[in-house]
Amino acid sequence: MQVVFTPGHKEVYALAQTLRPEWVVKVSGMVKERPEKLANPKLPTGKIELEATALEVLNSAQTPPFALDTDGYEIGEEHRMKYRYLDLRRDRMKKNLMMRSGIIQMMRRFLGRNNFIEIETPILTRSTPEGARDYVVPSRLHAGKFYALPQSPQQYKQLLMVAGIDRYFQIARCFRDEDTRGDRQPEFTQLDIEMSFADQNQILQLVEDLYIDIVRHVDRDKKKIHQVPFPRITYKEAEEKWKSDKPDLRENTKDPNELAFAYIVDFPLFEWKESEKRWDATHHPFTAPQFLKGETTEAFIRRMKEDPGSVLAQQYDLVCNGYELGGGSIRIHDAKLLSAIFEFMGHSASAVREKFGHMLDAFTYGVPPHGGMAPGIDRLVMLLMNEPNIREVIAFPKTGDGRDLMMDGPSGLEERQLKELHIKIQK
Ligand code: AMO
Repeated sequence: MQVVFTPGHKEVYALAQTLRPEWVVKVSGMVKERPEKLANPKLPTGKIELEATALEVLNSAQTPPFALDTDGYEIGEEHRMKYRYLDLRRDRMKKNLMMRSGIIQMMRRFLGRNNFIEIETPILTRSTPEGARDYVVPSRLHAGKFYALPQSPQQYKQLLMVAGIDRYFQIARCFRDEDTRGDRQPEFTQLDIEMSFADQNQILQLVEDLYIDIVRHVDRDKKKIHQVPFPRITYKEAEEKWKSDKPDLRENTKDPNELAFAYIVDFPLFEWKESEKRWDATHHPFTAPQFLKGETTEAFIRRMKEDPGSVLAQQYDLVCNGYELGGGSIRIHDAKLLSAIFEFMGHSASAVREKFGHMLDAFTYGVPPHGGMAPGIDRLVMLLMNEPNIREVIAFPKTGDGRDLMMDGPSGLEERQLKELHIKIQK
């Protein structure tokens, strides 16, 4: 609120003359109504002001390197990232962080109401195949071995289903060493969900209900959902009609307050990888195929080998306004089928054993049918806040080339640390 210093309080008045922007002060005084002419209807506290009777300077401040009372779009982004702790002082950034927090709280409440259990899974783990490069962490105790940071908690959440946790979720940090773009960061956050005994329809309905709940509550009067229930479009139709698997269904793409959610379903299970001359999973290798009516596993495996391009997956994406907001699938819970698919994709039995032995083993102990989804949280907040990229809704994002300008990371290590980690740097 506005504070006024009057010459009546002489000492306070004199000290007030020295105040500069961004100083931290403690003020006491009398709250008064502003004279009518001086009221500012644009501010929530515009009708009142504080007439100061005491003032204490708790901390002074240098002049900030850029303006903090604007929306900040006019300032070079590298500059904003270097001084992120100042950049976050601006109203717009604070609102973005508050929206993000509100959305996460709603997710927790909604899933809690629906009997989901929030469970944390490890960050130091081993490679999971989500199709990107891993970030790796050298092990001190095991020379020459590396942890991988999770590209997603995919395997852990499936193993939780084996463990009998029927409904799991996590606000999960994921790490992918891939080229950064407006809607991609090296580390980002997913709402990771997995359910036992659920079919595709139940999972899509659950996430749809959650998103409708979020949009209605968080942003009651501004955002409009284009169509409810969310249209379900096959991958084939999307490619034919929009030449994209994340079509923008808004009638007027200039209207930022319209949210055109849709599900893309029936993805092909495999795609041809020309560089490696083999078929690979379009999602991840645990994605369940669609069987034909009455088809046995053996008959399916024969069909897969004869005509892999025609096999459809129980896989789905949530898209909105031209962005992919989330992806998921029903998983394979039959160890035999999983092995057959790995083999078909050109992985030797020993390679599969070495990478996924724990999954194949787990699947021999009675595993419920299960499936799930992982909507990205950064992209949702970006759309709800009309931001042009996800860096605006992440407190401490990285630059396009993966640097943290504020902390100056990544950084070198001391010789002593390298030695402990059994690492030699080749200059
Ligand atoms: P997927 O790889 O499709 O699926 O990721 C799910 C969602 O995560 C978000 N996302 C990202 N957001 C910001 N920066 C990135 N680099 C980035 N990469 C992905 C997107 C995307 O839709 N384990 C599976 C999910 C499952 O099958 O349940 C998975 O991670 O919004």
